[in-house]
Amino acid sequence: MEIDTVKERAGPREFSAADEMPLEYREAATRMIEFHANSEIMGAYLERPFIREAPSIDRKLAYSAKVQDEIGHGQLLYRAAESLGVKTREEMLDDLANGKGKFLNCFHYPMKSWPETAMIAFFVDGAAMRRQATLRRTSWEPYAHAMDKVCFEEGFHVKHGESILAELMTGSKKEQEMTQEVFEMWWPRIIQFFGPTDDKSTHHDFSADVGLKTQSNDDLRNLFLREYIPKAEKYGLEIPDEPRIRQRDDGTYEVEEGDLDWDEFFTIAKNEYEPGLGQINGRKEAQKAVQWVRDTLEWENVPEGTAKPQAAD
Ligand SMILES: [Fe+2]
Ligand SMILES: [Fe+2]
Repeated sequence: MEIDTVKERAGPREFSAADEMPLEYREAATRMIEFHANSEIMGAYLERPFIREAPSIDRKLAYSAKVQDEIGHGQLLYRAAESLGVKTREEMLDDLANGKGKFLNCFHYPMKSWPETAMIAFFVDGAAMRRQATLRRTSWEPYAHAMDKVCFEEGFHVKHGESILAELMTGSKKEQEMTQEVFEMWWPRIIQFFGPTDDKSTHHDFSADVGLKTQSNDDLRNLFLREYIPKAEKYGLEIPDEPRIRQRDDGTYEVEEGDLDWDEFFTIAKNEYEPGLGQINGRKEAQKAVQWVRDTLEWENVPEGTAKPQAAD
């Protein structure tokens, strides 16, 4: 298919493996889905130690279910990315372990205390939910299909995060102070989650033209702020003075871009942010530790006559 035809036909779930897509489309879609899949995995690895830290058995159960869900999201997305025929799941996992795979800014920051889990599970998952809801209308059908299940589970994650936040903000004075403190640390990172404003985002135009991306960074950030500023305030969190955020007459928000640390953001985007290198190396160690499982599961080692498993639905 010619790229002009792709642009003409672009619409929700319009293309699938049955279509012969041009390389430019397949590469752009692979880059986008691989980034998403990597982020699911790196988010899960960041949260995993907090299954132990969780303050009650209910929280432990809920937290371990969430972490498991995120790994599942990664798996679904690697399969959706693989359907474009550019990279295999193994190549993407290797790139992630070797520090080449890119992932969301928020998952490069080390997480040290329990109140931070609310920042991830409520605000970061809430921001992710905003973006993922629009991806159910992306033009690559396998990606949109994966989003159906992902969005369903993300809804639970956000509720779970909200429940942790509510518990902390109605807890002791110390808990409330700690939560406000980590909120101030995470708030600018969460606003940067949506990436730079549209004119600075290099991949935006093409992705939008071919229907991969259905809403701009600015629009998504606005939707998030409209929903989450009132929610943060409802639980007694104070919105930090910086970055300065102004509400326009039409209810939309304007963020003072200069108040955000874009140098840090772009260092992160290159996988060069020093405090986050431990997380990338952690992924490498984890991959090494389970290599024997991969080797055992190699198709050549499976007894003859066994039905070959199909890609995850
Ligand atoms: Fe997820
Ligand atoms: Fe999630």
